[in-house]
Amino acid sequence: MEKRHNFGSKLGIILAAAGSAVGLGNVWRFPTETGAHGGAAFILIYILCVIVLGIPVMLSEFVIGRSTHANTIDAYRRLAPRSAWIIQGFLGVFAAFIILSYYSVVAGWTMKYLVTAVAGGVTQIADPAAYYTAFTVHPWWPVVFTAIVLIVTHIIVVRGVQNGIERFSKLLMPLLFIIITVLVVCSMLMPGAKEGLQFLLRPDFSKITADTLLSALGQAFFSLSLAMGCLCTYASYFRDDANLTRTAVSVVSIDTLVAIMCGFIIFPAVFSVQEITPDAGPGLVFITLPSVFQMAFEGAPILGYIFALLFYLLLIVAAITSTISLHETITAFLHEHGLSRRAAACIVTTLCLVLGIFCSLSFGPMKDFKPFFGLGFFDAFDFLSAKIIMPVGGIIISLFVGWRLDKKLVRDQVTNGGKLRAPLFGFYRFVIRWVAPTLITLVLLNELGVFTHTS
Ligand code: TRP
Repeated sequence: MEKRHNFGSKLGIILAAAGSAVGLGNVWRFPTETGAHGGAAFILIYILCVIVLGIPVMLSEFVIGRSTHANTIDAYRRLAPRSAWIIQGFLGVFAAFIILSYYSVVAGWTMKYLVTAVAGGVTQIADPAAYYTAFTVHPWWPVVFTAIVLIVTHIIVVRGVQNGIERFSKLLMPLLFIIITVLVVCSMLMPGAKEGLQFLLRPDFSKITADTLLSALGQAFFSLSLAMGCLCTYASYFRDDANLTRTAVSVVSIDTLVAIMCGFIIFPAVFSVQEITPDAGPGLVFITLPSVFQMAFEGAPILGYIFALLFYLLLIVAAITSTISLHETITAFLHEHGLSRRAAACIVTTLCLVLGIFCSLSFGPMKDFKPFFGLGFFDAFDFLSAKIIMPVGGIIISLFVGWRLDKKLVRDQVTNGGKLRAPLFGFYRFVIRWVAPTLITLVLLNELGVFTHTS
């Protein structure tokens, strides 16, 4: 078999992993959750979650990936031969499959809105809700855009770790930061932005319930790409001198900063247009924002044009760097089991496209086909991956690194064989053995509706 490639530089490592983490979850899901859970109070809890749990769980995935330099399934096989832990590897690859399938559909919608924005149409849409519905229920247009997303992802993944993933991450992530910064500044300058800022900055602690905490934790895991083998796969391409702790801290910081900045883009803009409430749910970026772009820039349509264009460009760039990581997780496994990279990637792209078509059609022609406990394809895939497999994976990873792996192996990975200092190693181990499994179990139970009568 050909030599296994690594990422070429430390910056490349951080940007690729941050690219996986920063995605639709930051631009769309984070503001939606923040809106639904009372603004600043949610953000504070979210930050607490990413520090206390996000960093340790990410570090654990890095340990698993880098210590084996193998795809996520073989990583478990090597660390714990002939044991049931390998199930986590399979769960990760399976979850990557179904996430990639439905995530590409939403990324496809983004692509469509970007095309509309380039053509100058987003600010011309007379009734954004009707436009959104008409597009998403269409039998084949959304499928075309889903296919485009998958093909772009495919082309990057086929080029390999350094020439594809790293090179594009180094190109796309700086672009993303520039766009975000420009949009934050524009959004702050809008009349009425102050109210939006207050919503984001003044915590209302009365809004905090157990549900806030559990939603923040679920959001943190999704946003950081945890528990699905993605970061474990990327870590398998880290060089042996990479500082795992520092990388985890950087990636978590970048992801959180981007999420909060997206809040600073969306809320001031939404509040400046009075009639619209911030917790508009999934329609936020496709229904609410087009109205915002129209109303906020009534007097200066050219600014509205630029804002809309940059916004959807931001969204698609963020989405593509995430689809790459999902695709790579599966491709790496197939590739390391005898297939060429190209053949492996072709299989992944084709299968995800087939599943993606079902997800896309579940909004339109197959709307009434609900084979999964009353859920259609899209909703079922979302539920199964984000609400079930992710917490289960988080629990398994914590238990695996906390209890199954040799303490010395973990310490060697974290300190690069004693070269780095790790003053918080004891705290990390405590979190990963006790705190993480307990809290994530609560998230899982909450998502299964066990606590609904109390909230
Ligand atoms: N984290 C990405 C986002 O915020 C999505 C994503 C990529 C993901 N890879 C993942 C989510 C693995 C869960 C698991 O949009």
